[in-house]
Amino acid sequence: MQIKFSAEPTGDALAYLAFEGAKGADFGEGIEPAAEAAFRRAAGVGTFKGGAGQIIEILAPEWSDAARVLVVGLGKKSAVTDHGWQKAAAALVKRLLVGGAKSLAIVGAPDRAIAAQLAFGARLAAYRFDRYRLTLKAEKKPTLATVSVVTDSAAGARSDYAPLAARAEGVELARNLVSEPPNVLHPESYAERIQELSELGLEIEVLDVPAMTKLGMGSLIGVGQGSIRGSRLCVIKWMGAKDKKAAPLALVGKGVTFDTGGISLKPGPGMQDMKGDMGGSAAVVGAMAAIARRKAKANVVGLVGLVENMPDGNAQRPGDIVKAAAGKTIEIQNTGAEGRLVLADVLWYAQKKFNPKAMIDLATLTGAIIISLGNEHAGVFSNNDDLVAKLSAAGAAEGEPVWRLPLGAGYDKQIDSEVADMKNIGTAGNAGSITAAQFLQRFVDEGRAWAHLDIAGTAWKPGNDNPL
Ligand code: BES
Ligand code: MN
Ligand code: ZN
Repeated sequence: MQIKFSAEPTGDALAYLAFEGAKGADFGEGIEPAAEAAFRRAAGVGTFKGGAGQIIEILAPEWSDAARVLVVGLGKKSAVTDHGWQKAAAALVKRLLVGGAKSLAIVGAPDRAIAAQLAFGARLAAYRFDRYRLTLKAEKKPTLATVSVVTDSAAGARSDYAPLAARAEGVELARNLVSEPPNVLHPESYAERIQELSELGLEIEVLDVPAMTKLGMGSLIGVGQGSIRGSRLCVIKWMGAKDKKAAPLALVGKGVTFDTGGISLKPGPGMQDMKGDMGGSAAVVGAMAAIARRKAKANVVGLVGLVENMPDGNAQRPGDIVKAAAGKTIEIQNTGAEGRLVLADVLWYAQKKFNPKAMIDLATLTGAIIISLGNEHAGVFSNNDDLVAKLSAAGAAEGEPVWRLPLGAGYDKQIDSEVADMKNIGTAGNAGSITAAQFLQRFVDEGRAWAHLDIAGTAWKPGNDNPL
């Protein structure tokens, strides 16, 4: 998808923006009278009031050169946020992506910053994962190739868009990584793809199994030992702050490239979705790519633990006891609770190596978070109110909200073991997302600002793939 900014509305589809007014839709000043008349008539026929995401599409109007003229609703004028502008452009792109239109011009951006937000929303909505759909019929392929946002300050909009384009590329990378099938994206090939990001000026280090064995990472290694693929720990560094020695922010990701559950095998139906069990790591990798492309003036390190959880003659068993690099032993009671075992060693390494000022981990950690929060909020667990406030504000602004759940000694007791320092599951059916977070917290240093995002419900929404 090509994004443009120009003063002239050129495109075979032309779209206007409307607010929801007290007396029906408010089409603003800059609209062609013929278009407004047609929209008013169409609004009277249908239910269009300018509500967020509502669309009128008029085909082949004789009063316009464009083959389609549309209007999209933004909701009430006083309530439109950056995300609201993004969603409006996204709604247009979703409507037109495969419909035959090749270019879309969006008219009515009130300023350059909003023009950039419209472009950002358009670009994110154009995402598809069609890499393996080799015989897709022409009428099912995207036709929309260009979106131009009409603005008097095209140069200004272009510079406002540059950091958003960097973010879009990060998001697209994360989506591609999650969408890749698990035979293609496994720990070894994933690590190679991460290494390619050194092109962006990121410093990449990859630890293989012998290197992790030396460091005593028995917890992570145990998860991957049933796979023919070697596990990896990738460290992605961006030291962009003035003071290159200042303590960084650490982003830690769960990268289980496929989670069968191991010997505690998952049921067959839906297991294919477990290719997305590396979503936390993909978010970290995408964020690091965006940070590098933006040349962010910040020190940030991304650390992702890449493993494949397979049943095998050499696989870990329920009953095994492993020793994590932090020197603590873990009784494995369920090989399907593997994400926390991977993260235990990655969190330890992040702290030992970088002494981060704050540490945020992202993981598709528990099915229980989907029971609690569905696909709408990610769960956040933290020892630091300030960090939660920042994550909540950022999530709300981006339309990716988080909801805090508690931690506490009462929950923590559940993972005490009779034979080791801890076990890897709590009581079945009892606060499973919280006990998973308690497990992670046992590997977080006292006083370290830390937040854990359980994104099992938000990283991947089944049935939300490409349209058929
Ligand atoms: N990867 C799963 C969690 C998951 C479930 C992610 C559904 C996305 C969708 C995780 O490794 C897992 O299997 N967790 C178990 C933990 C249980 C054994 C304590 C779970 O949630 O059932
Ligand atoms: Mn699992
Ligand atoms: Zn998992």
